[in-house]
This record gives sequence, C-alpha cells and structure tokens, in this order.
Amino acid sequence: MEIESSKKDMHEPTKDVSFSSVPSLPSGRTFAASWNAPSNIALLKYWGKHGTQLPMNPSLSMTLKNAKSSTSMTVKYSEHQDIVFHFHGEEKPAFAPKIKTFLSRIESFCPWITKASFSINSTNTFPHSAGIASSASSMAALALCIADIDTQLSGDNDQPSFLRKASLLARLASGSASRSVYGGYAVWGHHPAIEDSSDDFAVSFNQDIHPVFKAIHDDILIVDSTPKAVSSSAGHSLMNNHYFREGRIAQANKHLEMLKTALQKGDMDTFIRVTENEAMTLHSLMMSSEESFTLLHPNTLVLIHKIQSFRKQSDIPVCFTLDAGPNIHLLYPEAYAEKIRSFINNRLKAYCEKGSYLQDETGKGPQKRKAL
Ligand code: PMV
Repeated sequence: MEIESSKKDMHEPTKDVSFSSVPSLPSGRTFAASWNAPSNIALLKYWGKHGTQLPMNPSLSMTLKNAKSSTSMTVKYSEHQDIVFHFHGEEKPAFAPKIKTFLSRIESFCPWITKASFSINSTNTFPHSAGIASSASSMAALALCIADIDTQLSGDNDQPSFLRKASLLARLASGSASRSVYGGYAVWGHHPAIEDSSDDFAVSFNQDIHPVFKAIHDDILIVDSTPKAVSSSAGHSLMNNHYFREGRIAQANKHLEMLKTALQKGDMDTFIRVTENEAMTLHSLMMSSEESFTLLHPNTLVLIHKIQSFRKQSDIPVCFTLDAGPNIHLLYPEAYAEKIRSFINNRLKAYCEKGSYLQDETGKGPQKRKAL
C-alpha cells in the first residue's frame, strides 16, 4: 500500500513505502520478530510538529552504540486486539495504552494489527532513572518488529525499503525514533541538500563522512536524573504559536546545510558552532514559549562554561549538546578520549549527580536478533 496524500497533512510523499496490504493474519500461525535498536542524539533538533507526527523542521542525529532497547514480539490472529507488555520481565499494563495509540496510528498501513494478539517483551541497556529519553530506542525497536512481521507477510525483502518502512512506523510512535533505524548519522525531514530526504521517514546520512566524524564519543553527564517537567508532545505543541517559529524553521534549514558540509569536510569549528547553538536554541525556544519551561539546572550552566573554557585553553575539539533536559552530552573525536576522561574526572564529575556519567559513542544501528 502506498502512502496516500489524503492521509497526510498538506504534504506530498517524496518516496514510496510499501506495506504488505494483508488484511489479517492467517489464523493458527504465530509470527515472531526480535530487534535491538539504539538511541540517538540529535545534533540538529526536531522541535515542533504538525499533522500526524510530521516535523516542523528537518533534524540530524548521531546514533549511539551502548544505549539500546531490545524488543521481542510474538503475534497471532485474534478477534480483538490485545496487548501484553513486559519490561525487564515484569508485566507493565500501564504501557499498553501508549502502544495502543501507536498501533491505531499505523493501522491504515498494517491493517492486520487490528485483529491481533501481541505479546511484547522489552529491555533497555540504560537505567530508567538516568535522565535519558528511552522513546527513540524503544519505539524504534517496536517499529522494527512490526515492520519485520509485515515483511514476513509481504515477502518483500528489499533492505532499503524495509528500513524506510520501519522508520515511517517509528516516526508515528515518536519522531526521534524514526532516526534510530540507521547507524552513524540520520536525517529526518525534507531538505533539498539531502538526497531522498522526507518528512515521512528518516534517511541514512553516511556518504562521504570525513574520518574524524566516523567515531565520535558522547559521554552523558548526569546532572539531574529526575523525569523532565514537560513531555515532548507538550513541548512540540509550544512551537505552534511561538513568536520565533518562522525564524527557527529558517535557522534549522540553514544549520542542516552547514552540518552536512562540516561532517563531509571534517570542519570541526563549524560542527561545534552549530551543535552548541542548536542545544541552546532548543532550550531558548522552551524558555521563550508562551508557557515557559526552564529545564536547565544551575550545574548544566556551570558545566557549559567549563567545557567552553577548556576548549579555548586546550584547543581540544570538545563540545556539548543537550536533549530536552539538564544532562550534558559531551561530544569529542576518538583521538582525545584519554584527555577528556581526565577532564571529566578532574573538573566535571563534581557537578554531576552522584558523580555519574555514561559513556557512549557512534553506533552502527539496529540488529535483528533470533526470534524466540
Ligand atoms: O521524539 P520526541 O517526540 O520525543 O521529540 C524529541 C525531541 C528532542 O529530543 C528534543 C530533539 C530530537 O530531535 O531528538
């Protein structure tokens, strides 16, 4: 089935994504799929959406290696849709409504899900309390399982088409999850400078990347692990009537061109300038929206000053980005790993909650696991 314009919000598809169009699962058979999916950190931020999970502006992310979700799914025909969800082996009925909302968004693409009984088991490699958003990895893993089963039904094993399908489904669960189906760098949102880019699904952006950007460390300095004060859906909606909306769209489009060139030319200065500016822009937009949110912690600002002055003094190309929370993602090339380790231990750790930080780096993307 092709995405039809009528299902979309004043938005034309740029590329076909094909689904099985099987109306229901054959009864008496159990289908299974199992995937690991990584989290990602946006260097260029998605903030603001319209229609059914379509982005206000394009975004670009780096996929992580260690922060991952693993999801296994079995599904069989049932008169009524039914979901049993386990997280780390424990049944969590509270998660079922979120999964149900997601399934209702994708039923026009995968009608078989409406008459199906799902058993889903999921785990994360990172602690829930670490202040890391788990929706990108968990929703990507869930979407990959559904795309896998849809592909078992259609028999279409074309890999790029499978990843587009998984990304489109992941987007309908959580926008940032659409980028987690690829390794390295990914772009979600149409931009003329990125080939095949689309608002419907993310695309891999790994061609002609300069060697210095092929292995970037991301150490996550945990400043405060308490859950964030604003959900991302509420946050995105703050952009609907934001005074800076048009300016932000223009800026994000410009930043994508600049980041693309920087990643391909190995231009660290531009990479640092754009990445830090994007982090500060995200938080400035939250602070300056009609309902104002300040998610930064005093120690976030202390750490930002320390990182920037260390960079000036040492000439080491280290920079930061932020997600929608107070924790710092410290980014630097592989070659400086040892020096940054002592910088963190000697100068930054004291400003982290219980001195804690997580180490991550550029990852290769999701992996299919043997279905149980
Ligand atoms: O995918 P969502 O709806 O949780 O939104 C993610 C928004 C940011 O993490 C702040 C930025 C991004 O592009 O990942």
